[in-house]
Amino acid sequence: MEKIYIFDTTLRDGEQSPGASMTVEQKLEAAKLLSHIGVDVIEAGFPISSPKQFEGVRRIAETVTGSTIAGLARALKKDIEKCFEALKPAPKKRIHTFIATSDIHMNYKLKKSKDEVLKLAVDAVRYAKSLTEEVEFSAEDATRSEWEFLRDIYAAVIEAGATIINVPDTVGYTIPEEFARLIGYLCKEVRGIEKAVISVHCHNDLGLATANTLEALKAGARQAEVSVNGIGERAGNASFEEIVMSLRTRQDCYGLNTTIKTEQIYHLSKTISSFTGMRVQPNKAIVGENAFAHESGIHQDGVIKHQMTYEIMTPQSIGRQHSALVLGRHSGKTGLKARLEELGYILKGKDFDKLYSKFTEIADKKKEVFDEDLIALIEEELNILPETFSLVYFSVITGNNVIPTATVKLKKQRTIMQEASTGDGPVDAVYKAIERITDTPVKLVSYSINAVTHGKDAMGGVTITVEKDKKIYRGYGVATDVIEASVHAFINAINRIHYNSTIELLEE
Ligand code: KIV
Ligand code: ZN
Repeated sequence: MEKIYIFDTTLRDGEQSPGASMTVEQKLEAAKLLSHIGVDVIEAGFPISSPKQFEGVRRIAETVTGSTIAGLARALKKDIEKCFEALKPAPKKRIHTFIATSDIHMNYKLKKSKDEVLKLAVDAVRYAKSLTEEVEFSAEDATRSEWEFLRDIYAAVIEAGATIINVPDTVGYTIPEEFARLIGYLCKEVRGIEKAVISVHCHNDLGLATANTLEALKAGARQAEVSVNGIGERAGNASFEEIVMSLRTRQDCYGLNTTIKTEQIYHLSKTISSFTGMRVQPNKAIVGENAFAHESGIHQDGVIKHQMTYEIMTPQSIGRQHSALVLGRHSGKTGLKARLEELGYILKGKDFDKLYSKFTEIADKKKEVFDEDLIALIEEELNILPETFSLVYFSVITGNNVIPTATVKLKKQRTIMQEASTGDGPVDAVYKAIERITDTPVKLVSYSINAVTHGKDAMGGVTITVEKDKKIYRGYGVATDVIEASVHAFINAINRIHYNSTIELLEE
């Protein structure tokens, strides 16, 4: 099994994502995590580009000892000098210098000939090599460059001392088969290639960064440049977690491994997401919220019978606790039964069937049925909490220039009772009317509302706690209308009081 070196560029290319900049402290924390998880090389920043970048690289170089610390530099003496100055304290360091090699970049951006570019590259590598043992050279926009020119420039920089030659797909243009051919060509044609490691750095403009990187590794590259959650310029870079988990999960196919402690991946992903403010899409491979969530009845049934029916890796292998069986309109009886058992309810026969039919009604209205919904259902349907009072009707008049006024009708056994009240707001008005009808004055201790589904028809879930005679009672209600959800939550709490189901006894 051959080792693949993981070069993480979250703190350099990743930080170049629009709006993803991190503070120096955050970068330092992230670098510690990257080192802890087993990253071989951490590209800490581009020191000449700003004083903050310089400080970030410098602080990481002073503090993080487990991994090699790399800094980026254009093929210019002043860049390389600055880069080395920032890297100096690192026990293991690498200068990463680059210049563009495609015609479009050389003609329009650099306005230089091939010979001039080759000379700049060689001079840069030679100078970097006089400062550090490890020097990486990147031919920017390699995948749109002439292959013969790449062959010549890589051979020349290896001769000048480069120990790693990087082949960037800067604009995410290549495709797996073509990229593998290019790597094969370089392995065969570059003079002195046995003295250097071939690295690849793929961008995701066509969504092919992971596939391109993996094909290149198959073809002979031995360093993968990646970023956590795939962040980076434009559509981002090849994602750290996808490359590492692909190599691990399909060892049978690649025969390659990394020394990454994969159980720390989820935590790392969460940390980078919070530091950069870049949310991970729910269906993102490996680290998205839904990556181990199953909703359809057939899938839930399969996963309950054997996890590997619908999972190719375990959630624990990336540091997640367990898979999630999301209860929604596609869920079946097996999934519901399993979730109820997790909540401590063993329901059988008619009780279970009754609950299941009620569950399907709710699931049709809501995107996801949460534990609170199930508990409320069980209490209502199975008479665990007898409904002393139930809602018949309510109305509220409110506005910016009127005093909120509510009318509420409740039923207690066969009696219908009605009251009206004003309040500081619509919820206060209905709560006062309910207190009057039920003759149960309480103190509202907490009130929280959350959208349990999204969009215009979102369901609001209201959770309240109230205090009565020094005891605390909880109430929960769900409806598309937040006032109605509030009414249900309050009646739920009042019924609890009447049933005397104390949740917590307050200290005298
Ligand atoms: O995408 C790119 O070409 C780069 C280089 C600096 C390696 O980020
Ligand atoms: Zn890049």
